[in-house]
Amino acid sequence: MKHFEKESLGLFPTPMHRLPNISRELGTNVWIKRDDLCGVALGGNKVRKLEYLLHDAKQQGYDLIMTTGQAQSNHAMLTAACARRLGLDCILLLKDRGITARKGTQILNHLRGVEVRYMDTDSYDEIYREMDRIGAELGRKVYKIPCGGSNALGTLGYIDCMREIAASGQHFDHLVCACGSGGTAAGCVLGARLHLPHTQVMCSMVDNEPFEQIVTELMQQAAELLEIQVDIPVPQLLDMCGPGYSIPSAEGNAAIEMMMQLEGIVLDTCYTGKAFAGLVRRAKEGYYKADDNVLFIHTGGAGGLFAQDWDAE
Ligand SMILES: Cc1ncc(COP(=O)(O)O)c(C=O)c1O
Repeated sequence: MKHFEKESLGLFPTPMHRLPNISRELGTNVWIKRDDLCGVALGGNKVRKLEYLLHDAKQQGYDLIMTTGQAQSNHAMLTAACARRLGLDCILLLKDRGITARKGTQILNHLRGVEVRYMDTDSYDEIYREMDRIGAELGRKVYKIPCGGSNALGTLGYIDCMREIAASGQHFDHLVCACGSGGTAAGCVLGARLHLPHTQVMCSMVDNEPFEQIVTELMQQAAELLEIQVDIPVPQLLDMCGPGYSIPSAEGNAAIEMMMQLEGIVLDTCYTGKAFAGLVRRAKEGYYKADDNVLFIHTGGAGGLFAQDWDAE
């Protein structure tokens, strides 16, 4: 397997522990992998991807990082935080969609002092063209990180996470993660095939994209990058999107309340609440046995929770 260098940006391995009260409530052993506690801003899955992506940017001599996402994007916020730690400039070109007010992750962008520009478009292609235009205007070499950091190199981040879990020696029958742009899911499914062959991975989809194709392609590209021959698994996907991407769902909010009330751990409305709701739904359907170990990957995102207007619900 080809080796790729990366920057050290997070505190890894992240903690992993059993959730005693939720385990009792759901009748199986539920564990949590705390990638929300990875040490940058409010933590989250993007740090593992950014360790590879920003190393690549530095190696290739880029000095201006640009990325995109929705107004409350955790990925964009963490890209800015990590880029500055490495002395790289960063501009965020966000979609003018969702909560643009200085709330939630936008407070962190403001504290970070990062330049945020909004574009009134639904087309990422248009945003990437605008990145090129800004780069040319500024005379800077722009490293464009795709939405969610989900490309072949970013996918290596969650392959590492699966290796990290395997190294703990704890066996898991099942693992559940969020799927928003596909890179985390691709890393978990391919990484489990390589390092946790007896663990079933289920990905809770929080958006309405053709994820079977997206996740499969990312796994193929990551396998090519690593120069490994492996049967690419078919990803197990569960539709947890509810009323729409980044719109809170009743099932997701119930899961957020369960996690907060029983374990005092914060989930968010866009990703981790809906992802954990997938685990709860499966447990209630009797999918897990009483002595199974089920691992939930906490991918961060708490900032987004504080952009929500809870009174209005
Ligand atoms: C907190 C959080 N969890 C999960 C995800 C989904 O990860 P991915 O984009 O790799 O599918 C995201 C994506 O932005 C996120 O911010």
